[in-house]
Amino acid sequence: MAGDDPPPLAPASTPLQRAAALSGRYPPVPDVCVVTGGTGFVGTRLVEMLVERGATRVVSFDVVPPPDDAWRHPNIEWRVGDITDPSAVDDLLSIAGIKCVWHNAAAVGPFHPKSLYAMVNHQGTINVIESARRHGIKKLVFSSSPSTRFTGEDVDGLTEDEMPKLPLGKYMQAYAETKAMAEMEVSGACDGDFMTVSVAPHQVYGPRDNLFLPNLLEAAKSGKLRVFGDGENRICFTHVDNYCHGLIIAERALYPESPALGRFYIVTDGKTHPNGEQYLIFWRELDVAVRAMGFVSLWDKVRLPRGLLMCLASICEVLGRILGITMKLNKFNVTVLTMHRWFDIKAAEEDLGFKPIIGYREGWDETIEWFRSNWLPKQRTNSGGILGIATATQEKIDIQDMSAKKVR
Ligand SMILES: NC(=O)c1ccc[n+]([C@@H]2O[C@H](COP(=O)([O-])OP(=O)(O)OC[C@H]3O[C@@H](n4cnc5c(N)ncnc54)[C@H](O)[C@@H]3O)[C@@H](O)[C@H]2O)c1
Repeated sequence: MAGDDPPPLAPASTPLQRAAALSGRYPPVPDVCVVTGGTGFVGTRLVEMLVERGATRVVSFDVVPPPDDAWRHPNIEWRVGDITDPSAVDDLLSIAGIKCVWHNAAAVGPFHPKSLYAMVNHQGTINVIESARRHGIKKLVFSSSPSTRFTGEDVDGLTEDEMPKLPLGKYMQAYAETKAMAEMEVSGACDGDFMTVSVAPHQVYGPRDNLFLPNLLEAAKSGKLRVFGDGENRICFTHVDNYCHGLIIAERALYPESPALGRFYIVTDGKTHPNGEQYLIFWRELDVAVRAMGFVSLWDKVRLPRGLLMCLASICEVLGRILGITMKLNKFNVTVLTMHRWFDIKAAEEDLGFKPIIGYREGWDETIEWFRSNWLPKQRTNSGGILGIATATQEKIDIQDMSAKKVR
């Protein structure tokens, strides 16, 4: 970007994303960047925002190829590859001049076979760390998850330091366990020569989300979704641009003696949540989206008591094991959909200088509008529902699982 030229803007970005990109208050980014998981929901926007902020070469590395409408900008290279394949990772990180690796690639969500989480999330991260060190790369920013610290107890406004320390004696699911193992590798690798930090969002939402909102909306469309428990649990959300902003500025916090070295931070929409709090009432905000799609309000239906859901989830888990299928209703999902899950993000504010760049109200409203214009018209006559998985999610899962089988 020369002189006063306006920054390039990703064609798929929304008015709010463009306004945030043009606000021009961001520190510089490295010229050569690598983003693993670069065709994922977060990774795609991270690639775009790095280019929007002035990176001259951003290499995306993902097992899922870029979609046809991916941004074909000369500063972006969309590379298809598997992080469980050490030679492919080594080839990637041998690119000259890489200043920072943002390691986002992961088997995400509760729907994969158990072995895949370990291979992708844990071993894949080891591959990235070992290769980055071999090639003399100095900085790694890791996408972690707050679920690494979940025990099933409410998390009602805790800071990172007030949450349980890793490793936990027991994890709630394989995803959380393998992300925790990966994060420990990342923190353990941090030294004077190789600087690392882990940044986690909570419940990412935004335009082009392929997992969280489409799954719930498909279930709402099928008529099967109900409010779980009393429906008053407090949760925090993170706009995809806020998360990517947190990941990008975390790189700036990697310098000798920085308080951020080897640490874990959570970023969310912070105090832009309703009423200046750092949370929202999950089922009420979800219902705004459900009604905006023209579906029946969740509050007009019978709510499902938590105890009943836990019994059903136990039955589903047994059936799933016997039939060899993945069911959406499981004990983990019932727990996370009924517990309080929100954080005080003052550590990220203090150490990383993090502040949301898109406020919750505008961000959620625009996301709902995006789904009304882009998701709703494409709805196929399927499936979804409380016991199934959204079609688009399943297609993506299949590519990830197939690729991992090839490497094994
Ligand atoms: N979305 C959230 O709410 C959330 C919450 C906490 C943490 N995170 C973390 O943020 C990161 C991005 O998540 P997301 O929501 O964009 O999920 P996503 O599934 O959209 O993105 C993950 C990407 O990793 C890629 N990937 C999977 N296996 C791979 C492999 N073997 N080799 C190369 N690429 C592979 C996938 O194809 C996908 O594009 C993840 O590390 C996730 O753990 C996300």
